[in-house]
Amino acid sequence: MASTRGYFITGTDTGVGKTIVTLGLMQWLQDRGHRVAGMKPVASGCAATPQGLRNEDAQQLQQQATIELAYEAVNPYAFAPPIAPHLAAAAAGCRIDLETIHTGVLQLAEQADRVCVEGIGGWLVPLNERDAVAELAGRLGLDIILVVGIRLGCLNHALLTLRAIEASGLRLSGWVANCLPPRSGHADVGINYLKTKTYAPLLGVVPVLSDVSAMAVAACLSPGVPDNS
Ligand SMILES: Nc1ncnc2c1ncn2[C@@H]1O[C@H](COP(=O)(O)OP(=O)(O)OP(=O)(O)O)[C@@H](O)[C@H]1O
Ligand SMILES: [Mg+2]
Repeated sequence: MASTRGYFITGTDTGVGKTIVTLGLMQWLQDRGHRVAGMKPVASGCAATPQGLRNEDAQQLQQQATIELAYEAVNPYAFAPPIAPHLAAAAAGCRIDLETIHTGVLQLAEQADRVCVEGIGGWLVPLNERDAVAELAGRLGLDIILVVGIRLGCLNHALLTLRAIEASGLRLSGWVANCLPPRSGHADVGINYLKTKTYAPLLGVVPVLSDVSAMAVAACLSPGVPDNS
């Protein structure tokens, strides 16, 4: 069976722009004629609705997808409290199983020719008693994109994450510098420093956007983003 084409989008932390970059990447791929599905396999911080637990990130990915997808296909593990996923799962009497997520990705790959999977928090966030996000990324076998949220403290977070991904032996397609509000006069210096510290290509620089949208982010991604063809 051909391997799944797509990306696993991880980040230097929670709240660094994984969702907006995933949406932008989906748009970028769609603009190039691909049928794209998005997935947020694990979400804590979900709202109770008459249809069940719903997470905003997952709903945005569901909406951005080229094809119509059931919510559960986009977000198989949904938890209400906004706490670490392994704790949220334990509180719900459930265990996050990587194989279940892998099966879900394979099912999406049957309907779309690119699958973009948003990670959970950062690279070493625990998912169960044994596995972290890193193991999930390894199991899925997708190319990895690292979103570096450009803000104070990001150099340390970025370098640690780059080292950890490198040590895992997984394929890093590149990184995206996402400038978080408030605007800083030091963003360029930080981005240039990171460029000297990794061989991974810089796939785009997203400025602080006054109007955040998939199209605005897609416009910031460089033509060098590999389209996995
Ligand atoms: N470049 C930017 N310009 C303006 N606002 C931004 C930018 N990047 C991110 N934001 C805002 O910061 C917030 C966090 O971004 P986002 O939800 O994409 O992060 P995340 O890494 O997916 O977070 P989580 O770990 O909760 O999934 C959002 O409100 C988003 O709109
Ligand atoms: Mg998100």
